[in-house]
Amino acid sequence: MIWSSLPATAVIIVVFSLVAQVLAASGLSYNGLALTPQMGWDTFNAYALDYDEDILMKNAQRLVDLGLRDLGYNVVILDDAMTEKTRSHDGKLIANATRFPSGLKSISKRFHNMGLQFGVYSSAGRFTCGGYPASLGYEEQDAQWWADLGVDYLKHDNCFNEGQSGNPKLSHDRFAVMSKALNATGRKITYSLCNWGDDKPWEWASTISNSARISGDIYDSFSRPSAGCPCSQDDFYCQIPGYHCNVMNILGKASAIVSKNQPGYWNDLDMLEVGNGGMSYDEYKTHFSMWAIIKSPLIMGNKLDELSPEDYAILINPAVIAINQDPLGSAASRQWRVQEDKKDEYGYGEIQVWSGELANGDHIVAFINGGSGDQVISSTLVEVFDGLRNSPKVQKSWDVYDLWGADTVMSNEVAARILGGESKLSHAEGYFNASRHGFQDAIARNDSRVVGTYAKTVPAKGTLTADIPRHGVALFRLRETSEGKGQKDEL
Ligand SMILES: *[C@@H]1O[C@H](CO)[C@@H](O)[C@H](O)[C@H]1NC(C)=O
Ligand SMILES: *[C@@H]1O[C@H](CO)[C@@H](O)[C@H](O)[C@H]1NC(C)=O
Ligand SMILES: *[C@@H]1O[C@H](CO)[C@@H](O)[C@H](O)[C@H]1NC(C)=O
Ligand SMILES: *[C@@H]1O[C@H](CO)[C@@H](O)[C@H](O)[C@H]1NC(C)=O
Repeated sequence: MIWSSLPATAVIIVVFSLVAQVLAASGLSYNGLALTPQMGWDTFNAYALDYDEDILMKNAQRLVDLGLRDLGYNVVILDDAMTEKTRSHDGKLIANATRFPSGLKSISKRFHNMGLQFGVYSSAGRFTCGGYPASLGYEEQDAQWWADLGVDYLKHDNCFNEGQSGNPKLSHDRFAVMSKALNATGRKITYSLCNWGDDKPWEWASTISNSARISGDIYDSFSRPSAGCPCSQDDFYCQIPGYHCNVMNILGKASAIVSKNQPGYWNDLDMLEVGNGGMSYDEYKTHFSMWAIIKSPLIMGNKLDELSPEDYAILINPAVIAINQDPLGSAASRQWRVQEDKKDEYGYGEIQVWSGELANGDHIVAFINGGSGDQVISSTLVEVFDGLRNSPKVQKSWDVYDLWGADTVMSNEVAARILGGESKLSHAEGYFNASRHGFQDAIARNDSRVVGTYAKTVPAKGTLTADIPRHGVALFRLRETSEGKGQKDEL
């Protein structure tokens, strides 16, 4: 009896877990959207309130020409300042006709013809943060206007909320009105909350939205403290989110809530600063790597006609984007951190090790050197795999692929030619077209542009080591060593 029932149980467990995975991927999204984190470009970080139709169309064209759209960066968000300062006599928002001479509908159509989505911005308050009329009390009317314009994405801010915050229920109910209004239009619109971690949206926003900001606004600095972002990286009950939060500060705030991510709902670490000039090459690589593996939406906030070859090569690294877009949707988590005893001009630096699981059974591992000088970082497999000495994963040998190696980073020379329009993107030049080939297919084929550059094999119970420059990162895909190779390693 026992013997014969065992295999059947095993089969049921396997079938159940497959069904559960499929359900998890499609069923958790409240509106069926954002099964992987959103990707795109937003006006705010580079242009603030000063942009117009020309700037929009120029950047949209760059998304296409630089191959960014085909790696997934497909939404363009008009962030604030879209309208006149007052509504019409019957309460309608009025687009600024000087800013957008051919009209928002025409811009929307042109985006769609370019294979891009049209994103807009408002606030769940009386005014937007820039002082334009916002949607509190006008949710249905505004949602319908956007749906008529062909809007695909709403970034919804938290300014001038008339005190309707201070506990999760108040915030939830205020943002839920817009969620319902968007749904009632019948148009599929990705709904992205921008309430700065106020009232802990990771506890309540997944049933009404696709993502929510978890901190005050990012600024273009790796670790320089600012009075504008008063809560420390360990202040998980932050009351004053601020607006000048550095990369390490936001990472700290994200570390406690990575498990809240799921297909359809993402913790938003705020827009990418890559390309804006405030950080070094290594710092931008760390910023981009960590946003990707923690499954933040990847929304650029730069000037696409002023990108340097180095920054462009960071943003189009297909191996790193593939981690962000992995169908399992499981964010990497921090395994350990050590504070340095030396201070530099920004205070005490830290070493951190993060790891996470991927859909095909591979793992992602990141070492961050937030310290004051270059250094070697090591971590045992026990530490990498959740600190569990008896984990079956620790008993296996792993092939290590470097995600910032020669196969995945476009050379400066090629990047410069493409940015200058002298060369077309092609497979031969090292460009990976995800729209054509698909990340998952490429991974199954062991395409090194997506899997990474083979670096070494770490034996069972072994240690992973990397040499990392100041404020730099090492990012590795770990793949179980195949049978033949594993035996060789044991000899
Ligand atoms: C990527 O592939 C798609 C589909 O084949 C194609 O339409 C697009 O032009 C390609 N993009 C680039 C940048 O080559
Ligand atoms: C409308 O756009 C023009 C051109 O960008 C700008 O000068 C003007 O201030 C805008 N109006 C409002 C109300 O923002
Ligand atoms: C509206 O909500 C229902 C129920 O959650 C969902 O099935 C449907 O896809 C939503 N429609 C739109 C347009 O988002
Ligand atoms: C890809 O690599 C894995 C592990 O290194 C190996 O088991 C598999 O056979 C390879 N697949 C292909 C298509 O080469």
